[in-house]
Amino acid sequence: MKGIVLAGGNGTRLQPLTLVGSKQLAPVYDKPMVYYPLSVLMLAGIDEVLLITRPAEIELFRRLFGCGGRLGMRIDYAGQEEPRGIADAFRIGADHIAGEDCALVLGDNLFHGAELPAVLRKSARELRGCVLFGQQVAEPQRFGVAEVDSKGRLLSIEEKPERPRSHLAIPGLYFFDGTVTDIARALRPSARGELEITDVLRAYLAQGRADLVRLGAGVTWLDVGTHESLLDAGRFVRDVQRRQGTHPGCVEEVALRMGFISADACYALGAEMGDSPYGQYVMERARAHRPAPAPAVFPEE
Ligand code: DAU
Repeated sequence: MKGIVLAGGNGTRLQPLTLVGSKQLAPVYDKPMVYYPLSVLMLAGIDEVLLITRPAEIELFRRLFGCGGRLGMRIDYAGQEEPRGIADAFRIGADHIAGEDCALVLGDNLFHGAELPAVLRKSARELRGCVLFGQQVAEPQRFGVAEVDSKGRLLSIEEKPERPRSHLAIPGLYFFDGTVTDIARALRPSARGELEITDVLRAYLAQGRADLVRLGAGVTWLDVGTHESLLDAGRFVRDVQRRQGTHPGCVEEVALRMGFISADACYALGAEMGDSPYGQYVMERARAHRPAPAPAVFPEE
């Protein structure tokens, strides 16, 4: 399965923070925002990722991840000149997807929770068209909104409706089969002039091939669109790290856990940042992952 991180847009709601740099590189506590969505794709087992961003910022992302080799992955980059809509990612990424299944994650969405890896693996494994997620929120009108029947079957999908039919918001993480590029190619811009992700989802729904997976209390989802939510996300990450000792969005740890890199390679990545608590954590995870040394054998007396 292929992955796409969509990390473009003008970030106008975060100005002046975004005047000279990408929103998805803004710090969320101890790491750039993009680490979090990238780690989600990795947790789904995806090691071939296309990162789409504004052309002028490709170099900055490349400085972070290079070709992905250090994480045992392949990471390519593509530019989006204008924010033409989230579904534009499938047009830009058509060659990368190349008819395979793919997952799209928005570069400003964070997910965390013990249940997450199993949910991701199951969604990727049982894909039969598209999988979208749904989580209960207080203000659904800020998001794509899903309506489901009493059996949890998807009935309708709307983008930021004034009068939402439910409180089930659709997070920025989706799984699609390879036909998504054809669906995206046939899209027309919406009234607000964007190629809408919800129109892609609706096309699958019309074909009877869209499944909604509810994210329960075991998964935290944060969408970072404002200064307030950026601060909230940083506090959330700090609290998880302090209280649970786990580090959301630690791409080196996920690469190790998914078998993309060895414990030695992970340790070396941590050691390069060894002055920081983050680097120390990566080294510690690598140490914990190494097989215990064989017990010493003493020659018989
Ligand atoms: O966060 C989940 C929500 O994300 C979904 O519930 C909505 O259905 C979906 O439309 C989207 O809503 P947003 O209002 O958050 O979308 P926004 O325009 O802020 O874009 C989300 C991210 O995608 C943001 O980091 C910028 C990036 N983006 C967006 C567009 C439209 C691009 O890179 N290129 C684009 O053309």
